Amino acid sequence: MNAYQLVKPLLFSLPAETAHDAVHAGMRTAQGTPIADALRERYLVDDDRLRVEAFGQQLPNPVGVAAGFDKNAQVPSLLASLGFGHVEVGGVTADQQSGNARPRMFRLREDEGIVNRMGLNNHGADVVGERLAAASVNVPVGVNLAKTEHVAIDDAPEDYRYTYERVAEGGDFFVVNVSCPNSEGFRDLQNRDSMEAILTTLQDAGASPLLVKLSPDLPDPAVEDALDLVNELGLDGVIATNTTTDRPATLRSHNRAEEGGLSGKPIEPRATKMVRFVAERVDVPVVGVGGVFTAEDAYRKLRAGAHVIQLYTGLVYRGPAIARDINEGLLDLLERDGFDSVEDAIGADLD
Ligand SMILES: Cc1cc2nc3c(=O)[nH]c(=O)nc-3n(C[C@H](O)[C@H](O)[C@H](O)COP(=O)(O)O)c2cc1C
Repeated sequence: MNAYQLVKPLLFSLPAETAHDAVHAGMRTAQGTPIADALRERYLVDDDRLRVEAFGQQLPNPVGVAAGFDKNAQVPSLLASLGFGHVEVGGVTADQQSGNARPRMFRLREDEGIVNRMGLNNHGADVVGERLAAASVNVPVGVNLAKTEHVAIDDAPEDYRYTYERVAEGGDFFVVNVSCPNSEGFRDLQNRDSMEAILTTLQDAGASPLLVKLSPDLPDPAVEDALDLVNELGLDGVIATNTTTDRPATLRSHNRAEEGGLSGKPIEPRATKMVRFVAERVDVPVVGVGGVFTAEDAYRKLRAGAHVIQLYTGLVYRGPAIARDINEGLLDLLERDGFDSVEDAIGADLD
């Protein structure tokens, strides 16, 4: 039995966000102390076969932390100590926001999923930007940029620009989040004109590398439109996917009725399908996100065309060893199938 199996029942006896806050507080305490060194010793898998280059970043391994876990950039270094190869912090908005009323995060235990309707709660671009600039993290840090709730869609480009300029110094890559399902009208930003205005404004401001994160709920023609834009504007990558408002018929947990975005195991097939759809249509790296819990899950996304993967819900259900377990498992899978490295396996299932 590993340590997380002992702690998990205690954490799971608390409301989901309370447990998250408690874990975060523990991580903040451990960051920068000998505990972090001990964690690194235990969880870092250092192997050349795992290295990946994507959107101008040298990633020590393909397993990253998805946006939303460290919204305020408080523990990126500690997350790197858990063996993750990159960390995406945020979503960050220009103004500080408190988000929706609690409870707003729900475990779907039987399904190994989460439904959340956090509503982009965060400390705001000024605070997060300063924190990031002062942080020392030895893996690339991405910043997830989102629209401030009260800002009208027409004013969104300037709102994103403000946030970008505040976090530019401390971020290694930047992600335009137009796919959060928990803010009114937010996903309308995924229409071609809105996206183009935001992306070109950020490019003018110097945002690079610049990626866009899409919703799994976009119909195929809208995804194709978005990907045309990625190609036309020369963006550096696509993240697929955010959470879904859909509820697969297989869900068993009573919390499936909660409003919000679903993540975790139940969205894995859909997210992987979207990774493949995107990878078939763009030449830039795809970041595969959604329901990655195991090495097999990660491998499936890599073979479907993802250059790297990210996870959030898997960390909640599997605990701090998840990056190590996936990286070690990937090495076994590469060996089994005769690949020399992760980079060799990327897109192996594409025609
Ligand atoms: C509580 C919570 C908060 C999230 N916040 C954000 C966010 O601020 N920005 C974003 O782009 N994605 C956010 N996400 C989505 C994740 O980054 C990821 O795309 C999604 O959860 C699917 O991955 P998973 O199945 O590994 O969790 C959030 C997810 C959860 C569970």
